[in-house]
Amino acid sequence: MIESDISNLSYLQCTVKESMRLHPPTTLMLPQRANSHIKIGGYDIPEGTIFHVNVWATVLHPSIWDDPLEFKPERLVHNNVDIKGHDFRMLPYGAGRRLCPAV
Ligand code: HEM
Repeated sequence: MIESDISNLSYLQCTVKESMRLHPPTTLMLPQRANSHIKIGGYDIPEGTIFHVNVWATVLHPSIWDDPLEFKPERLVHNNVDIKGHDFRMLPYGAGRRLCPAV
């Protein structure tokens, strides 16, 4: 195998993604600060609030993933989940303007 083969190794990519789903390195992301008053899920978040996004709760939630505690790369074979901050089911690198620049 050479490095240029990696983009063709789809099951390897699913395995890496599934590792990141089950064990997100940054479980609570970095602290974020609300620049203005916002409302999320019915909750008021006043301007200036420092908050965390609980990524681990999302990736282990049974309404989002079947058997969330099981390591199953095959769940991603026909489920093209973006890990670059566009799919909130899996956010190992964060999202938005604070997205990890290494992604
Ligand atoms: C598996 C590897 C990595 C993971 C899972 C990861 C994950 C993250 C996450 C979750 C954030 C916070 C994003 C947010 O708050 O929305 C972040 C921020 C950041 N990461 Fe990474 N990271 C990884 C590797 C790296 C590497 C290799 C570098 C640099 C060489 C790097 C540099 C940074 C920097 C500078 C930020 C702060 C960005 C900002 O606050 O504007 N990361 N990373």
